[in-house]
Amino acid sequence: MNRRGFLTGAGIAGAGLAVGGAAGAGITYALTADDSLDTADQSVPFYGPHQAGIITRQQNSLVFAAFDLKDTVTVDTLEVMLARWAAAASLLVEGKPVGPVESRPQSPPADTGEAFDLGPNLLTVTVGFGPTLFDDRLGLQSKMPSALKPLGQLAVDTTIDPTISGGDICIQACSEDPQVAFHAVRNLARIGRNVVTLRWLQEGFGRASATTTSQVTPRNLLGFKDGTANIKAEEPAVADEWVWVGDETDQAWMTGGSYLVTRKIRMHIEAWDSDDISDQERIFGRIKDSGAPLSGGEEFTDLDFAVKDSSGQTKIDRFSHVRLAHPDSNGGAQILRRGYNYTDGIDTRTGTLAAGLFFMAYQKNAHDQFARIQNNLAQDALNEYISPISSSLWAVPPGLKEIGDWYGKTMLGYRG
Ligand code: HEM
Repeated sequence: MNRRGFLTGAGIAGAGLAVGGAAGAGITYALTADDSLDTADQSVPFYGPHQAGIITRQQNSLVFAAFDLKDTVTVDTLEVMLARWAAAASLLVEGKPVGPVESRPQSPPADTGEAFDLGPNLLTVTVGFGPTLFDDRLGLQSKMPSALKPLGQLAVDTTIDPTISGGDICIQACSEDPQVAFHAVRNLARIGRNVVTLRWLQEGFGRASATTTSQVTPRNLLGFKDGTANIKAEEPAVADEWVWVGDETDQAWMTGGSYLVTRKIRMHIEAWDSDDISDQERIFGRIKDSGAPLSGGEEFTDLDFAVKDSSGQTKIDRFSHVRLAHPDSNGGAQILRRGYNYTDGIDTRTGTLAAGLFFMAYQKNAHDQFARIQNNLAQDALNEYISPISSSLWAVPPGLKEIGDWYGKTMLGYRG
């Protein structure tokens, strides 16, 4: 039954604790080579060892929301909200409303309605916890994973705005339809309105990475293919090594989870647009049109940092983005990138475009992976054209096992 089915009267109970979509139900989302398929009726399975929305084939739209706890919250009220979120998310990802619409004429409808006719559109809902959730307000200090220690101020972090950074809880909603992603976040925020308040929200209008080998590599707003060298869903052993938290964790509740770094990176687009193409390619170390390395070959040819031009210079500049971000320059460290292009319109002080990359990266340990790479990128030639303006770290718990499971159930110690 889709959202319209609910409207015509055959609905089930609201988004209470006991409500959930059938495990594994919905049309299974097959990996296909065709990016142009109509995805409106396709859904991503909700239950599994890992939350969907991480290595899931990257969808085209993002709505990311960060929340703070209200002062009155207790562990119990938080847990009820997380259980209601799980129940609601299991319905949303199948294209269903979060509750009946017309059962109580004197009450607002349980679902806000803007996605009634749209279908699941490969919606994924991914929930994470920020470091501040584990401060002394709820007494959860002993549940804090050491890997969730804040990253602190990194070398390039001179322009971070704290009002659009951090938060106690986050929701990442990704979908092929932007309105489906917005609807998910809006309705979950509504369900949680007595427990959390929105701290900041970011929309992404186009994917700037690829998470499967079957996807075409998209382009970021600097016009370059982005996501060529990324961890892909077809490499489960690589994901086990670099993305999923394993036995090394000091908090067993995070096993099967992952750590997410979100960074809003403003691009100085007008300056970039007046830079020579040869300099743009030097900065990335790749050819703009094809995405091929400057050392030669096609898009997916390995980078070769030893190849020199006739003047004896390496063809891939030593300060190029790909050289400094490459595993060979970072003790082998890899990350799963899942960023989105964004725009906030214009910067009214300067009349320039306020746009860039909402960078997202998943990994086993952000201190050893993201921060290591980012610190190495302190020398990046690209830095002249970008400024990070928000930075956050999230612990994303493992997937929900079955109906009746919810985000953080093990962490919060629910005994039923
Ligand atoms: C606005 C900021 C950024 C832009 C426009 C950008 C763009 C790109 C592009 C065009 C590539 C080459 C294509 C590819 O292999 O995907 C690339 C690769 C890469 N980027 Fe970025 N990037 C940005 C920020 C970052 C940040 C903050 C990090 C991590 C700290 C990062 C990590 C990487 C990694 C690991 C690679 C792959 C390197 C390799 O193994 O070849 N990027 N990026």
